[in-house]
Amino acid sequence: NRVEVLHGVNLDQLGRRDPAHYGSLTFEQLQYRIEEFGRELGLSLRFFQTNHEGEFVEHLHEIRDTADGIVLNPGAWTHYSYAIRDALELTELPAVEVHLSDVQAREAFRRHSVITDICVATVSGRGVDGYRDALNRLSEELQG
Ligand code: DQA
Repeated sequence: NRVEVLHGVNLDQLGRRDPAHYGSLTFEQLQYRIEEFGRELGLSLRFFQTNHEGEFVEHLHEIRDTADGIVLNPGAWTHYSYAIRDALELTELPAVEVHLSDVQAREAFRRHSVITDICVATVSGRGVDGYRDALNRLSEELQG
């Protein structure tokens, strides 16, 4: 199965962001780990990151026919971007939401996600391993 792993705004800055919330891996190291999880599960992964909301939306438009499922961490967009929500819904692909940090245990504005209800699962506060959980969950979903 073909899975798109999408990272939104500021995730390219991992390694410089608060390690108490996000761990100390750089974004490159994170992607490397996710790549390994994908290999273990026999999934073919493609990665995308942008700090531009419109680019994220357009990427979602494009993957509809080239992917079987989505793992996404939209960063702060999670909490307010109805544009990303609408574009995600338009893909009609199963998606799993991931957050490195425990968004329920931080500032109040992080407790709300505008995509949770259209995702098959949400993983939060498990750091890098959360991506393994997400890929596992998605792969179950894809096998029916
Ligand atoms: C995040 C949590 C968001 O609240 C935050 O804005 C991020 C990263 C996470 O992975 O924990 O940029 O999605």
